Amino acid sequence: MPTKTIAILTSGGDAPGMNAAIRAIVRSAITKGITPLGIKHGYSGLLNYDIWEMTIRTVSDIIERGGTILYTARTPKFFNEDDIQKAAENCRKSKIDGIIIIGGDGSIRGADCLAQHGIKCVCLPGTIDNDIACSERSIGFDTAINTATSMIDKIRDTAQSHERCSVVEVMGRKSGNIAVKTGIAVGATAILIPEYKFNFEKDILERINFTQKMGKKHFIIIVAEGLNIVDEIMEKITKTTGIDSRATILGHVQRGGSPTAFDRVMASEMGCYAVELLSHGISNKVVAVKNNKLFAIGISDALKAKKSFDFRLYERALEISI
Ligand code: F6P
Repeated sequence: MPTKTIAILTSGGDAPGMNAAIRAIVRSAITKGITPLGIKHGYSGLLNYDIWEMTIRTVSDIIERGGTILYTARTPKFFNEDDIQKAAENCRKSKIDGIIIIGGDGSIRGADCLAQHGIKCVCLPGTIDNDIACSERSIGFDTAINTATSMIDKIRDTAQSHERCSVVEVMGRKSGNIAVKTGIAVGATAILIPEYKFNFEKDILERINFTQKMGKKHFIIIVAEGLNIVDEIMEKITKTTGIDSRATILGHVQRGGSPTAFDRVMASEMGCYAVELLSHGISNKVVAVKNNKLFAIGISDALKAKKSFDFRLYERALEISI
C-alpha cells in the first residue's frame, strides 16, 4: 500500500533544530505527493486528537527558530497499555500511514510501543543531551554546546576581572557529553561528569594548584547536571583554596535559541531521510549518524544499544587546560 499520509510529532525536551526537521519532513512529503499531518503536544496530541494538516507555508520561517512549532510534552502516562491502544486507534482513524517522532530515548520507547500495535514509526534523535546510544549526534546538541560556550565566555570575563573561580553546571541529564565538549571549548580547569568518579583532591585541588603555580589567576570548573553538586563544589573550593568562587547553573538557556547551521543541516537531512524510508515502506527505524553518514537502525536495536563515552576527548581536555 502506498504511503499517503505521514504524521509528525515532537516529544520530550525540545531541542533547537526540531523545527528544521519538521520543515524538511513537510516539504519532502508534499514533494512526494504525501499529505503531512502535525500532531501537537507530543504523544498527548495523539491521545487527544490534536492533529491538523500541514502545508508548505505552515513551515515557512521556522528553520531559524528554536523550540518546536508542534509543542512538546513529557508523557510517562503514554506507557499505559490503554493509552497506547487508544493512540494506535486514533492513528488508524486519521488514516495515518506512518509517524515520524522527533525526541530522545523516552520518545523512541513510545514509538516502540506504537510499533508493537502495528503503527509504522520512524524516529529522529532530538535532544540536546546527545545521549542516544545508536547515534553519534542528536538534533540540538551542537546548538546547546555553542550556547553554553558563549554563556561561559561571558562568565569568564567576570571571573577573570575578579580573579575568581566559577563553577558552572551544564545540562545533560545523566550524560557528560555537553560538559566535556563545552569544557574543551571554554578551556575549563576541571570537568566533572557522571561517567567518571572524580576525586576532589586529585581532580580539582591539584589541578587548581598546578595551574595557579603556572600563573593562572581565574578558573572555570564545569559540572555536569547529573552529579547535582555545583554548590557543594563551589563551597569546597572556597574553603580549601581560599579562592573566591561562584556557582552558576546555566539551565534552560541551553535548550533555546536559533539552531546552528550544523543542527539545521543535519535535522533537514534527517527529516528528508525519514520521509524517504516511509515512502519506501520501511518503518520502525531510528535515523542515526555514524561517521557523518545517516543510516537507519531498528527501534528495538536502537533501544538495546549502549552509548560509549569518549574518554579520549575527556583526557585531551585536561591535557591542555593548564
Ligand atoms: O533532555 C534534555 C534536558 O534539557 C536535560 O538536559 C535536562 O536534564 C532535562 O531535559 C530537563 O527537563 P525539564 O525541562 O523537563 O525540566
